[in-house]
Amino acid sequence: MTRRPTTRSHGQLTIRSAAPEEFLDCVRIAHRAWPSFKERNSIYHLFTKYFADTSLVARVEGRVVGFTLGFVAQSKRGVGYIHLVATDPSAQRRGIAHQLYLEMFRRFRALGCRKVRCIINPENTRSLSFHDGMGFRPEHSGPRIRLRGVWATRDYNGKGIHMVEMTRGLRGAGTTG
Ligand SMILES: CC(C)(COP(=O)(O)OP(=O)(O)OC[C@H]1O[C@@H](n2cnc3c(N)ncnc32)[C@H](O)[C@@H]1OP(=O)(O)O)[C@@H](O)C(=O)NCCC(=O)NCCS
Repeated sequence: MTRRPTTRSHGQLTIRSAAPEEFLDCVRIAHRAWPSFKERNSIYHLFTKYFADTSLVARVEGRVVGFTLGFVAQSKRGVGYIHLVATDPSAQRRGIAHQLYLEMFRRFRALGCRKVRCIINPENTRSLSFHDGMGFRPEHSGPRIRLRGVWATRDYNGKGIHMVEMTRGLRGAGTTG
């Protein structure tokens, strides 16, 4: 468990592995942060139950305000994958997702990962901005398409469903590389 003060929140931020029963906190926050995003509850449950080393919740003064869900890839050696991150709207822009990611990077490194990947909907400009700020850069596993100023991988999730693939190296002990 790590305890880090945030730079911009007023309370004590605590980040630790999700407990299985906290999947419903994650569902609640995801629904509030991103109402149009639909994910089955069982997916949240699966992460908090079976991937808790790389699925984290952030609390401020005991209240869950953010989470991130990820896993270490089995078929891609040395790769950590982040499926989802969300911060409750009442706590956004206080560095909570930033702190969640720093802890994810630390854990992925400790588990032998050399890079971390995620995919982002090209319309999700705040997520693109957040990931760019965290050092992620686009990569392409197939033909590219330019959408709203970013390069996405064409048909990544099926015909017409283009996604931005992003990756970041995890070398070094610091938080930047
Ligand atoms: C993306 C999200 C997780 C960011 O959470 P957060 O806790 O507010 O992020 P942070 O405060 O740590 O922001 C860190 C940096 O990311 C960028 N960023 C975050 N939110 C942003 C926004 N709305 N617009 C532009 N840049 C943004 C900024 O560079 C920010 O640094 P700054 O505040 O010093 O400018 C949050 O907006 C969210 O829950 N969105 C809905 C869910 C979602 O889209 N998840 C990603 C799916 S892949």
